[in-house]
Amino acid sequence: MDTSNFSLDTLTSLLKRRGFIYQGSEIYGGLAGTWDYGPMGVLLKKNIQDLWWRRFVLGREDMYGVDSAILMNSKIWEASGHAKGFADPLVECKKCHSQYRADVIGYSAGNPPLCESCGKKEWVEPQMFNMMFQTHIGASKDSSAISYLRPETAQGMFVNFKNIIDSFHPKVPFGIAQIGKAFRNEIAPRDFIFRAREFEQMEIEYFVREKEWEKWFLYWRDQMHVWMKDIGILREHIKEEEISKEDRAHYSKRTIDFNYKFPFGMKELYGLAYRTDYDLTQHQNAAGVDLRYNDSETNEKFIPHVIEPTFGLDRTILAVLLEAYDEEDVEGEKRAVLRLPKNIAPVQIAILPLSKKEELMNGTREIFDTLRKKYSCQYDETQSIGKRYRRQDEIGTPFCITYDFDSINDKQVTVRERDSMKQERIAISELSAYFAKQF
Ligand code: GAP
Repeated sequence: MDTSNFSLDTLTSLLKRRGFIYQGSEIYGGLAGTWDYGPMGVLLKKNIQDLWWRRFVLGREDMYGVDSAILMNSKIWEASGHAKGFADPLVECKKCHSQYRADVIGYSAGNPPLCESCGKKEWVEPQMFNMMFQTHIGASKDSSAISYLRPETAQGMFVNFKNIIDSFHPKVPFGIAQIGKAFRNEIAPRDFIFRAREFEQMEIEYFVREKEWEKWFLYWRDQMHVWMKDIGILREHIKEEEISKEDRAHYSKRTIDFNYKFPFGMKELYGLAYRTDYDLTQHQNAAGVDLRYNDSETNEKFIPHVIEPTFGLDRTILAVLLEAYDEEDVEGEKRAVLRLPKNIAPVQIAILPLSKKEELMNGTREIFDTLRKKYSCQYDETQSIGKRYRRQDEIGTPFCITYDFDSINDKQVTVRERDSMKQERIAISELSAYFAKQF
């Protein structure tokens, strides 16, 4: 839907009510920047992960999937530049001690803004704040035991570059892909799951010859657009932003942000960066291990350059939900519906007895037990059929099957489609063939 005049609260309250996303540590008053996915949220998240993995890893012969450890040798973060450079400018209000990211609140020393909490205009000088979460490995608390929770999944792929080469002997260009958690001690986590302290990334490091970087950069830009379209994000809700040299990450020679029209503004959904040979060169020098690629045909040895398409999973979920959310008036009542793409809906088919009567149970459960072998199904017998349809609309279930008293004899059921609300009678024996065409 058009999210420009949309209150995010409408969506977040539905997501809480229907078991998609809860505040982290909620019963203790919450923990800022953390979110827990409930039963529906987990299904949606997993479906998006699977779709991404199927497309970018299983669907290609030039991609190698990894799942690297979150805790890594701290030398990695020194070599990658994160120990020094992964910092945001922090400003603190002198009166109420609220802290903000200087760039987010538009801070400048000459013309300081009002504090969002107390309205005063007096600030402690900005200072750089490193966003990596520090921890200690083992019982020792001295500096040699320091480690970090990874702030990006990318480094787990760079440090496995040699392993992939040695095990699989891929030809350049090829990629390494990973889905996993990343952690950033954000100064001001905000906007629901948009800016969290613990979140998930789906990233690709694509290794190319230097002279071909532009070609592959454009290739991945197209691939990212196709992906966004396929998960239901309208092209007109996306605006590319060419990031200037001053604003690019320290490793990048070109970056495009794909900004999405969130209700709180046009903000970064994904990024595409040309990381050059920066990371592999840094690790080669710091670890003292030869990370050059050996072209067996030309006998050339070189460090490949890297194109990095990066997809934040939580931001994907938020954008997909915003696109899918819709409200309409049905016979004088408001219907809220998630028009999710069928292949990522948490529940694909709901199977409902018309009422809780004993004689409807066996037939309904038989259909449920058959279809759940292939599809994500939900059996629901509580409340009126109208209320159950609305509930399924709210979680985005594309199809509801209702088994009624006629079904016992005519062996047919009513199949209701979510978006049009059209209902048709279908023979129980035809259901498998019917859904095979739908999904
Ligand atoms: N490896 C490159 C990298 O990490 P990034 O732009 O800092 O680049 C990549 O992050 C993606 O991760 C972003 O485009 C966004 O989708 C997601 N992301 C970054 N910070 C986030 C946060 N605090 N909360 C949720 N998602 C975040």
